[in-house]
Amino acid sequence: MKDAFERFGLLINDRVIKTPIAIASMAGIIDGAYVLQRAEHTGIGFMGGYSIDRPTMEAARTLAASGSRREFLYEDPVEELGSQLRQLEKSTVVPGFNLRGSEPASFAGIAEALGDRVVYEIDAHCRQPVMVAAGSGESLLKNPETLGAVVRALKEKDVTVSVKIRAGVAPDDHRLARKLWAAGADILHIDLMDFGSAKLRQIRNSVPLILIANNSITTFDRMKEMLSHGADLVSLARSSDEKTLAALDAGITHYADEEGWYNAPKQLCRGGDVRALTFCCMPVKECPLIPTLSRIGISKEEYLRLKMAAVRGTPLEGGSQTCFGSLCWCCKTSSPCMFRDITVKQLGLSKREYMRLKRELSDAMICEVFRELPPDETG
Ligand SMILES: Cc1cc2nc3c(=O)[nH]c(=O)nc-3n(C[C@H](O)[C@H](O)[C@H](O)COP(=O)(O)O)c2cc1C
Ligand code: SF4
Ligand code: SF4
Repeated sequence: MKDAFERFGLLINDRVIKTPIAIASMAGIIDGAYVLQRAEHTGIGFMGGYSIDRPTMEAARTLAASGSRREFLYEDPVEELGSQLRQLEKSTVVPGFNLRGSEPASFAGIAEALGDRVVYEIDAHCRQPVMVAAGSGESLLKNPETLGAVVRALKEKDVTVSVKIRAGVAPDDHRLARKLWAAGADILHIDLMDFGSAKLRQIRNSVPLILIANNSITTFDRMKEMLSHGADLVSLARSSDEKTLAALDAGITHYADEEGWYNAPKQLCRGGDVRALTFCCMPVKECPLIPTLSRIGISKEEYLRLKMAAVRGTPLEGGSQTCFGSLCWCCKTSSPCMFRDITVKQLGLSKREYMRLKRELSDAMICEVFRELPPDETG
């Protein structure tokens, strides 16, 4: 697991995520046994959706009786979830539960009973009319105050909170993401529908939360597209078969070992997200850097100061033969450059280590960009 931490740098609930691949929930299908069978190539397993209060448990019965959907049915959610969780006790997969409920207290009750070993995912995604009528799923996206209250109720139990959303349902996904950040969410799990990576980049540019990209991610190319536009992990539901998971896991492990930063952004001028500031040069020309700085509210002077301070005392500080006298202004290794490559070599670094240092620089800059939590508008 030490290798996995060095490779991906992902920790949730104080546990190393061994690969940036999650199984996304499918009601009536994804339970402990399903995740366990795919444990070798899974970082997080979101079991469920599980209904956790009277209105949603009744909605699940109605759906199952109609024959249109499979559902998990039980009398006591705590007992059922506890038994699923026990199946993953010895596994390396970090467990998550996708939960359908309508009241903050229902979510808090489950967290109280199951403790902090689990990721609690609020299902704000389901669009089945009976679930929505029960006040859960997509209904929460239309009632951000209730959704915010559910996030806060879970955070009061000191647990990790994910919110599963479907892009394009809330009037403004950027504002929704900011509201969820302010309310205390840790993870946004986004079904991108047909919006693709541009929507993901918009959300990446809005919040510093862990982002999981979802929908039709079945090939390594599509996975890489998501990771290079802001995703920390990708998730699969319908295609979460062992063969597909194994292929994605092998692809991303190889890529991370070769490149040094498994989810490195594209450069800003090639459609990259805010993390790409790590590859930007000094603001001396007309290019997307200047409008990006003004959008995130950082002056040119602050950008210069911030970047130079972040690399002080690190190998990226050097680089007298490069365009701007320091590797902190240098481009991604995928952009060919003899001067950067010679400097990196003279410093005794591999290209992989250079990219790892660029990731550290990006992390430091992201902390500054998102220094101020927005006011909680859902409270
Ligand atoms: C049969 C089925 C049941 C689903 N149940 C849930 C659910 O309970 N909660 C939820 O958040 N998403 C649910 N989803 C949505 C999936 O998690 C996922 O967002 C969607 O299928 C798109 O991802 P994919 O292309 O990897 O399948 C369900 C999807 C399917 C096909
Ligand atoms: S500073 Fe360089 S890398 Fe950044 S947007 Fe401008 S041209 Fe592209
Ligand atoms: S030296 Fe090369 S990598 Fe560095 S800023 Fe100039 S062109 Fe980019």
